[in-house]
Amino acid sequence: MQKSRFLNLVLAIAVLVLTILLTTKENGSEKPTIATAVESENSPLASSDSSTIPFQKKSVGIKSYLYPQPAMVIGSYDKEGKPNMMTAAWIGICNSDPLSIAVSMRPATYSYGNVTETKSFTVNIPSSQLAKYVSYAGRFSGRDVDKFKETGLTPVKGEFVNAPYIKEFPIVIECEVTAIHELGSHRQFIGKVIDVKVDEAILDAKGNVDLNLLNPIIYAGGSFYETGSLIPRAERSAEDIDGLPFVANYNQRYMNKTLEVIHKRKSVRHFTNQPVTKEQIETLLRAGMAAPTAVNRQPWVFYVITQRETLDLLSEKLPYAKMLSQVQAAIVVCGDMEKAGNLKDLGYWVQDCSAATENILLAAESMGLGAVWTAAYPYDDRAKAVIEELNLPETHIPLNVIPIGYPTGEDLPKNKWNVDNIIWK
Ligand SMILES: Cc1cc2nc3c(=O)[nH]c(=O)nc-3n(C[C@H](O)[C@H](O)[C@H](O)COP(=O)(O)O)c2cc1C
Repeated sequence: MQKSRFLNLVLAIAVLVLTILLTTKENGSEKPTIATAVESENSPLASSDSSTIPFQKKSVGIKSYLYPQPAMVIGSYDKEGKPNMMTAAWIGICNSDPLSIAVSMRPATYSYGNVTETKSFTVNIPSSQLAKYVSYAGRFSGRDVDKFKETGLTPVKGEFVNAPYIKEFPIVIECEVTAIHELGSHRQFIGKVIDVKVDEAILDAKGNVDLNLLNPIIYAGGSFYETGSLIPRAERSAEDIDGLPFVANYNQRYMNKTLEVIHKRKSVRHFTNQPVTKEQIETLLRAGMAAPTAVNRQPWVFYVITQRETLDLLSEKLPYAKMLSQVQAAIVVCGDMEKAGNLKDLGYWVQDCSAATENILLAAESMGLGAVWTAAYPYDDRAKAVIEELNLPETHIPLNVIPIGYPTGEDLPKNKWNVDNIIWK
């Protein structure tokens, strides 16, 4: 009896000590690191990476954090005329007239001696696909290996300067050294740009470099990153400055671009008068036609409307497509009953054309364009209006009309996430 009372006492003391320890830990100076989902969603600070004080800076000392850093490859010849390539991040445009590029090299690099001697170099701009070569050219020295031979890349004699460029790199710039600055650890070579060559494959219809196709590399902290996504409306900065406090958003990055586009897509009903190009519409249609279809029937046909009169007439006749009067292009996604064949009556064409429509909407979002699904099917009156206006054959059934244009920014995505919609079994 005495013994069990003693044991109970020991147990009670142990529980008490444990409770005190746990309570101290929770209320003590250590902040809980995991906030509940509800808390973080409702908190005005949820969008900031620092859990309590936004924009609080921490001094990290003297670091080369000039982000984004480029990763270019410098081409040069040695005394024997052997081509070499070397990766350089300490590089950038340093003058407009004459257009000049500054690149800094350590005396230990083979390229340093080459460029000092030949007074020439090329700057070769890689796409992300070439990252492994950029890394290689920065790890090995031309003093020890023939980097062109080892990589299988092709040196091409510069057209205007005494330096080789790399055939496989999408942009190559030939430079002639006009000044040299001794800076300390590095010698800075100023190269006047003599010629720039660009792979036709990365030029857009206007002859400008399409940054999405180039997809250049960012170098940061020893790693390589991809770039290339358009920041919609960034160039119209003056219009979008509203004087409101800036709210940082560091922890709301999506895992990848696809998820970002999916979550940022919204039904756009307010458009500017900026026209979209034929190429842009074709890009949207390409995305549409990439959708899955039952038995690969691809039971669709896409009408592209650009005539002002037709857009306005449809805007009048379709009660939920009034925004057609604001845009200068629209896509009508139709089921093609001939292509649907014996699957027609099963209604697969609706699913297939819906998948194509969603692809078009996502592609529009990804390109900084706005679009909205306005239904024709299954409303007889709306379908009839479209059929009559576009003079569609009997076999083409309009599923919807998608106005396409540039968004004014008034329409925002909705958060539709709701756990009640999910049943786990
Ligand atoms: C991403 C990256 C960036 C680099 N940037 C530079 C640079 O700007 N200047 C430099 O002297 N070395 C830089 N290096 C190191 C040289 O590329 C490296 O020493 C190379 O082996 C030199 O080649 P070479 O001896 O054939 O000239 C960089 C390396 C990497 C991986």
